[in-house]
Amino acid sequence: MSRDIRITPSILNADFSQLNAEIERIAKVSDLLHLDVMDDIFVPNFTFDFEAASSIITSSVLPVDAHLMVAEVDGIAVQYAEIGCASVTIHAEATRNIPQTLKNIRKAGARSSLGIKPMTDITQYESVVDDVDMFLIMTVEPGFGGQSFMEDMMDKVRRTRQIIGDRPIWLQVDGGISMKTIEIALDAGADTFVVGSAVFNAPDPAAMVVSLREFATTRGNK
Ligand code: DX5
Ligand code: ZN
Repeated sequence: MSRDIRITPSILNADFSQLNAEIERIAKVSDLLHLDVMDDIFVPNFTFDFEAASSIITSSVLPVDAHLMVAEVDGIAVQYAEIGCASVTIHAEATRNIPQTLKNIRKAGARSSLGIKPMTDITQYESVVDDVDMFLIMTVEPGFGGQSFMEDMMDKVRRTRQIIGDRPIWLQVDGGISMKTIEIALDAGADTFVVGSAVFNAPDPAAMVVSLREFATTRGNK
């Protein structure tokens, strides 16, 4: 089976005091920059408010894949699309009107993405598939980097791949992806990989992105 592979490094575990330099370290070899926005309400952690996130998004040399882990996300999601994010993920658990907000994100020029927490069933969201450009299946509880990959999410990844069928929808996994676990997620059907600590804790983050991509591309095209 042939599948395009995307590696989207998360800067959650990067050095926030020199973020531009950290982004530049992986820019040439990465597809998108995964930006984890947390509000300390939807998840028990805080990263950026809209103003701080905007300044990263507008100055990033990489297109930004915003992962909004915020409550009452419908309104702010559109603003993230409007300021130029390439992709905006809303969480199913935090969105009042999922199809409308996905449509609004697209209308504002970004890819629309629906995020699913580990305890949430994907099947109930099958009906919005045509409003979705990407599904993000969490493979850890959202909130923190550096957690262990939840292999028991792979049934959900396989189910999501079935829902997607022939549509050109990306299937992203987020949490605990490394050289050890990428194979499991790939075999279950993922094609887009968020990698946080495995990239930024590596001695050479860019080389790690390259290795992950080479491994996934070779195995995915076997
Ligand atoms: C967790 C975030 C992830 C996190 C991934 O809530 O959504 O994007 O940064 O980090 P690792 O790869 O270390 O699990
Ligand atoms: Zn994330």
